[in-house]
Amino acid sequence: MMELKSKSLVQERFGAFATTYATSRSHAKGNSLTRLVELAAPQPAWTALDIATGAGHVALTFAPHVAHVVASDLTPQMLGVARGLARDRNIANMSYVDMRAEALPFADATFDLVTCRIAPHHFEDVRRFVTESARVLRSGGLFGLVDNISPDPSMMEGEAGALAAAVDEYNAFEKLRDPSHAHCLTLGEWRDLVARAGLTERHVEVLDKPMVLGPWADQQNADDAIKRGLRSRLLGGSPALRAFARPQENNGDVDFILTEAVIIAVK
Ligand SMILES: C[S@@+](CC[C@H](N)C(=O)[O-])C[C@H]1O[C@@H](n2cnc3c(N)ncnc32)[C@H](O)[C@@H]1O
Repeated sequence: MMELKSKSLVQERFGAFATTYATSRSHAKGNSLTRLVELAAPQPAWTALDIATGAGHVALTFAPHVAHVVASDLTPQMLGVARGLARDRNIANMSYVDMRAEALPFADATFDLVTCRIAPHHFEDVRRFVTESARVLRSGGLFGLVDNISPDPSMMEGEAGALAAAVDEYNAFEKLRDPSHAHCLTLGEWRDLVARAGLTERHVEVLDKPMVLGPWADQQNADDAIKRGLRSRLLGGSPALRAFARPQENNGDVDFILTEAVIIAVK
């Protein structure tokens, strides 16, 4: 029951704002996209799966380097945007599957590469997504993950209680902008999940993603009351949250940092 409710909230939000993700700078051009390709070193014979592809930026970036990419998402409008961008770029080696990250409709050991970028923080069951990804990878295949992460004790100084409170504060901040936000894991939680799924970590890095509050909120059509709430949660947040997000007032808007983890693991 929970699952269906949340699925429709994700579909509702991403369905409504699908086209904004085609041009969103942090999605279409972010550093993590380049890093994912550099670190995965895709091969021409590979078959790849991109989970929660959104506007398809990861799938479109990998497609010229591999034999085939399956771009998948549970929001049909997003798959429509990805399909349109592939057509515009004359990319013909992609297919599109409407599916949930937690239940992949593929046989074991189907893919050489499974990617997922800036999406698991929307998933109902992140553990299931990782075990499913591991299941559909062939032995020796690569798992490439990028997601926004929560304040992590391994990256920040601070008393455990204050950091745990900052995790809640940070996720509430994200949820105010996008009610379909579920939860960002910490880097430590990600590494643990990947290991428990039987994948061997090959590379881990953390990237700063500089954001501007107004345009970030506009991407989800936030009204003025929500923007005021986001602003006060960021500038008036706890010292741990501010140390993590580093908000700075700038010409009436607020610059801040989202933190992305990049994990490459091998089956
Ligand atoms: C921010 S967008 C993805 C960005 C994209 N991967 C990129 O790198 O530009 C998040 C996507 O996750 C999808 N999504 C959310 N929950 C999902 C789930 N449980 N299974 C599959 N897709 C999901 C949404 O429909 C949306 O298209």
